[in-house]
Parts: sequence; structure tokens; C-alpha cells
Amino acid sequence: RAAAAASEMVPDMDKRNTMNLLLVGAASLPIGYMAFGFISLVVPPKVAGSGGAQAALDASGNIVKASKWLETHKPGDHSLTQGLKGDATYLVVNDKGALEKFGINAVCTHLGCVVPFNTAENKFMCPCHGSQYNNQGKVVRGPAPLSLALAHADVTDDTVFFGPWTETDFRTGQEPWWK
Ligand code: FES
Repeated sequence: RAAAAASEMVPDMDKRNTMNLLLVGAASLPIGYMAFGFISLVVPPKVAGSGGAQAALDASGNIVKASKWLETHKPGDHSLTQGLKGDATYLVVNDKGALEKFGINAVCTHLGCVVPFNTAENKFMCPCHGSQYNNQGKVVRGPAPLSLALAHADVTDDTVFFGPWTETDFRTGQEPWWK
């Protein structure tokens, strides 16, 4: 009888232990979230880089990982990401299938429309007033007065970072107008 009672106790005990574990787990979960939330407020993980650099974000707001990006973006691809100061910025895949070291700001230098890339024509064509830029964003037709702004695009630990471009514009040989 006593043995039977003991064996009847076992499932109960197990259940109670399981309940305890669940309670502990449930209690520690929000604390974990709160701690993570706090830390991410103080030190945004991996989003900010050195020298004013900022991780590129995709259309869903996720950090762009170079290896994953290149699985789906083929040579010659120009696709929009979120860049410095939230500006729409093109990430460019070169002919060899690697990411270019520069990103191209998508804001038209005429009156600020976001300029789409025309793959068939291999250039940027602004739908607002017809300005055109070559595949590196150099202006080739007005009314836009200037080329599209550049940003550095560097990969660190597979994360794509945009950084301010303050040196000579390699497309024009001139000082950057956007500095
Ligand atoms: Fe692009 Fe006018 S805003 S051509």
C-alpha cells in the first residue's frame, strides 16, 4: 500500500518539478528580454560601425549580410537598401559578382525623387523629369546638375556597412558636393 502510494506520488512530483521549471523559465524570459532591450538601447549591436559607419538595412529592416545578399543578387545588380541617415542607397554587385566598395545614394540631385535603376538600359533613370545617371551614378543627362552621392560600402564580419564618402569622387575627379 505504501509502495503503491509512493509510486502514485512520482508522476505528481514530476509534474510539480516540470511546473517549477516552466515557472522559472517564464519568469526569466522577460528579464532576459528587458536586459537585451536595455543593452541594445545603449549599444546598438553591430548596427553602428566606426567613423560614422552604419549597417545597411534591407527592405524589411534587417541588417544586410554580404554572403546571403550575393546568393540572390547577381552581377550587375543595383538594389535599394537603407543607408546613412536612412537615405535610400543602392548596393551594387560588380561584374565579378562581388559587392562594390561604394553605395549610390538614390536621391535625384534635381528635385529629390528616388531614382530607379533600369536594368535593361544599365543606368539610373529618374521618372520625375528624365535625368539619367550611368551605372555608377554619374550624371549623363539633365536637368540633374550633379551625380548621385556616394557612400563607402565595406564588409566587416559579413555585415555590410555604409560610411561617409569625403574624398575625391572617382567618377568626376572632383571634391564631393555632398560633404
Ligand atoms: Fe529627378 Fe527632376 S527630380 S529629374
